[in-house]
Amino acid sequence: MKNHDIVEKNIGLLMILAVVAISFGGLVEIVPQFFLKQTTQPIEGLKPWNAVQLEGRDIYIREGCHVCHTQMVRPLRSEVERYGHYSVAGESVYDHPFLWGSKRTGPDLARVGGRYSDEWHRAHLYNPRNVVPESNMPAFPWLFDNILDGKHTGKKMAALRSVGVPYTDADIAGAADAVNGVTEMEALIAYLQQLGTLLQHKR
Ligand code: HEC
Repeated sequence: MKNHDIVEKNIGLLMILAVVAISFGGLVEIVPQFFLKQTTQPIEGLKPWNAVQLEGRDIYIREGCHVCHTQMVRPLRSEVERYGHYSVAGESVYDHPFLWGSKRTGPDLARVGGRYSDEWHRAHLYNPRNVVPESNMPAFPWLFDNILDGKHTGKKMAALRSVGVPYTDADIAGAADAVNGVTEMEALIAYLQQLGTLLQHKR
């Protein structure tokens, strides 16, 4: 009997060998990830979100902006020409959770920082039709009325620090004062204006 016949006719042995083969395949894919610096090292110049931007990011998530907008420029020519430098993992290492995504109802926002003025964002978020007549993006007028008190901002920073975001004690101590009194609109815009600015191409 050939060796292969033995394996094919012995279900127990076949199962064990199949498990060994699959486990090996899994290990080959998973283990190198632990040693890949590229996905865990911040790119040069990357700073954690400041207190106001961090609150802005939480508003972005709360309002579901990420449901329509990705923050991931793919390395394809059409994307890079439209949006700017493709996204790299090292830009998002301080983001928990990251907001890359694959569902685009609106344009990608990974490089939107600096593309428009604060005034444009205010008009657009108040009612997108005011500046882009054909837009089907929802309006977010309540962001002008809601005022942040920063009560939890320091705690959020401390939580992020425990998973590796390099906030200092001074950042955490000053968070409440930095945020107190800022409208949700201004916090959201502060976040948007910082998005992707480290790797922007000239457009
Ligand atoms: C239902 C889907 C949807 C949601 C939710 C949504 N958007 Fe949009 N967004 C769009 C569409 C479609 C456009 C393109 C038309 C326009 O510019 O208004 C757009 C455009 C934009 C632009 C301009 C991008 C560019 O490069 O021109 C910004 C900035 C933006 N959205 C921010 C936000 C923010 C911030 C939120 C959450 C508060 C949000 N969007 C929620 C659909 C959405």
